[in-house]
Amino acid sequence: MQNLKWDRPTRLLHLGLVTTVSVQLLLSLVMKAPGARAHTALEVFTYQVHRYIGLVALAVVLLHWVWSVTTRGRATVRNLFPTTAQQRTRVMTELRGMFAKQIPDSATAGGVTGLVHGLGLLAVTAVALTGGVLFVWWPEIGKPDALTHTLGDVHSALSNFVWAYWIAHGGIALLHHYLGHDTLRNMFVLERN
Ligand code: HEM
Ligand code: HEM
Repeated sequence: MQNLKWDRPTRLLHLGLVTTVSVQLLLSLVMKAPGARAHTALEVFTYQVHRYIGLVALAVVLLHWVWSVTTRGRATVRNLFPTTAQQRTRVMTELRGMFAKQIPDSATAGGVTGLVHGLGLLAVTAVALTGGVLFVWWPEIGKPDALTHTLGDVHSALSNFVWAYWIAHGGIALLHHYLGHDTLRNMFVLERN
């Protein structure tokens, strides 16, 4: 199979995304944000960890955007979102092909695969940004005000897209691996170049 190894900055940023976002999702299953009733020590502790890992996640997401916008390599924002008519035609052709059980072309970057990665990055960005505001607004003790509560609801609602992406994107990556493709290795290899 053709060598499609991602460049080192992209691999490091992706590792940052995978670790911080996965930890955030798992913590959310245990933690409880301060509210009307008293919480257990574990609920309080995991919420505090969620606050700070969330800030690290936000920093990684913002760095990824700076990288995507500035790089001329494979991780360029042009491969995440089809901005030209030619790219949009390719996405439509691949989507039609998928209904006929044809797997999108992964030998060249962009297309449906790139767009799915772009949408995943957008979902994570929205959750990390709302989380960043909650970091400042959500009270340490007692119930949040109405606006903060609504922002918490928006954060929670958007996090469902991150769960969906995490399961589907991670699942497809593992599927590639078990089908004998180099997809996982190309993204997670820790060599220098
Ligand atoms: C990429 C970063 C983040 C991810 C993936 C994430 C994910 C989640 C998830 C999955 C939930 C649970 C939603 C539910 O079960 O309804 C949640 C809740 C919450 N998160 Fe985050 N979060 C992130 C960053 C942050 C940050 C930085 C803060 C800062 C305080 C934060 C504060 C909260 C609060 C207050 C809730 C509870 C909201 C409510 O109950 O209405 N999150 N988050
Ligand atoms: C929710 C957290 C994740 C986010 C936001 C994310 C985001 C991305 C993005 C944006 C790309 C395209 C490359 C780039 O521009 O950086 C990508 C590629 C990739 N991701 Fe993730 N990812 C996440 C989790 C995972 C997990 C858990 C796995 C593995 C189990 C994984 C495996 C891969 C692989 C193998 C590629 C390369 C795909 C290809 O060659 O077409 N990712 N990811």
